[in-house]
Amino acid sequence: MDKLIVEGGTPLRGRIKVSGAKNACLPILAAVLLSDDESIIRNVPDLKDVNTMLDILTGLGRKAVREKDVVRISGGIVDRPVAPYELVSTMRASICVLGPLLGRYHEAKVSFPGGCVIGPRPIDLHIKGLKALGTVIKVEEGYIIASAPKLTGTRIYLGGHFGSSVLATANTLMAAVLAEGDTVIEDAAGEPEVADLANMLAKMGARIEGIGTATIRVRGVKKLKGVDYTIISDRIEAGTFLIAAVLTDGKLFIEGASAEHNLALIDKLEECGGSVEEKQGGLEACRATRSIRPTHITTLPYPGFPTDLQAQMMSLSAMSDGISVITEKIYPERFIHVSELNRMGAEIMLEGASAIIKGVKRLSGAPVMASDLRASAALVLAGLVADGRTEISRIYHLDRGYEHIEEKLSAVGARVRREKEKKKSSQGKAPGKGV
Ligand code: EPZ
Repeated sequence: MDKLIVEGGTPLRGRIKVSGAKNACLPILAAVLLSDDESIIRNVPDLKDVNTMLDILTGLGRKAVREKDVVRISGGIVDRPVAPYELVSTMRASICVLGPLLGRYHEAKVSFPGGCVIGPRPIDLHIKGLKALGTVIKVEEGYIIASAPKLTGTRIYLGGHFGSSVLATANTLMAAVLAEGDTVIEDAAGEPEVADLANMLAKMGARIEGIGTATIRVRGVKKLKGVDYTIISDRIEAGTFLIAAVLTDGKLFIEGASAEHNLALIDKLEECGGSVEEKQGGLEACRATRSIRPTHITTLPYPGFPTDLQAQMMSLSAMSDGISVITEKIYPERFIHVSELNRMGAEIMLEGASAIIKGVKRLSGAPVMASDLRASAALVLAGLVADGRTEISRIYHLDRGYEHIEEKLSAVGARVRREKEKKKSSQGKAPGKGV
């Protein structure tokens, strides 16, 4: 396993290019299954999760060839619509092959996706949407076994306890585009990644209205054609670097970053003393005030503050000159980064689904452990401003969602490098292995 070594204290200055959006790319790659033709997808980031999805497509008989950030996926008919445990268990987003396999083949067998450290990851809304279209679903030996002799358009309310669902919307949409008749999805997710998927489906010949809104209308068609489609840039990666510019008191131009997709973050960064300016082709961020100011954030479905930037904002708040409160309404348990930040000298306490962050003057570098994708990003940010050296282990979590992050950060002045983790001695317990 690799680890990242970060020496803190250098303001980041320069230009970073954002990669394609992981959370648009995954359902978009799954959606190519809706057509028997070859498709070309561009601006595909080189990430572990994306490569897992490409492995699933290959397992379904669709050859995927990557040339830099362009992926060519062969045409063909899937004769065995099964997404196996060994792949699905490594990436829960694999669940989004369910909709296209049902839409095109009227049957699918997908391993039941696991939870993860950010909390339980139920799929009841996925099942609700697919059942409403006429799918019969049973769970056997850890697999979701779905069949739908006929998919019929209908009206579906997809809102859950925590609001709309990104991938449940994606799955339902992908099953509806080839269904017979009209479908209306109410309380659909309006995230830009869902809109990107819908735009690609429309380019394949699907008939969709209300793209990007909470009410998506679909008129089923008989067949979809292959597509040449370019994915939007990753607003979460962009947001992470915008935060880094303010946190390190540097100045970064984030090429490809969209103000429209990051309005909630920009609002909060300006509240914290940051300045974010729209420039030709991207966003420029820096600190406008001497100190970082405290803030109050509640994560919400888009266009509210994104849960995927919650941990990164906590690293910023940890260095503010006041008390901040961050409330997590999407994944109330998504605070695994708190204990690691506190090991670096942050003063954060949890009160239910809220974190109270008392800003400190300095953080100190320490050996910390990555636990999930965005928590890892928060630790990198903290390491960039901590005194001394921070060693972040298990950074395979980071590699799931950030393409070549150490190269991108080093190019703007960060002192960061990747190292192989030394094998722990086999005798006795690894240091720090608690009960
Ligand atoms: C997508 O996950 C993203 N992943 C997540 O990003 C992101 O955090 C999340 O949306 C919320 O924005 C991808 O797009 C691959 P949800 P998804 O269904 O679709 C509950 C990252 O770091 N829910 O929108 O799985 C759920 O528990 C990842 O890049 C149900 O109750 O999330 C959560 O509380 C992490 N029933 C809320 O809805 C369901 O059937 C939103 O989840 C489905 C979800």
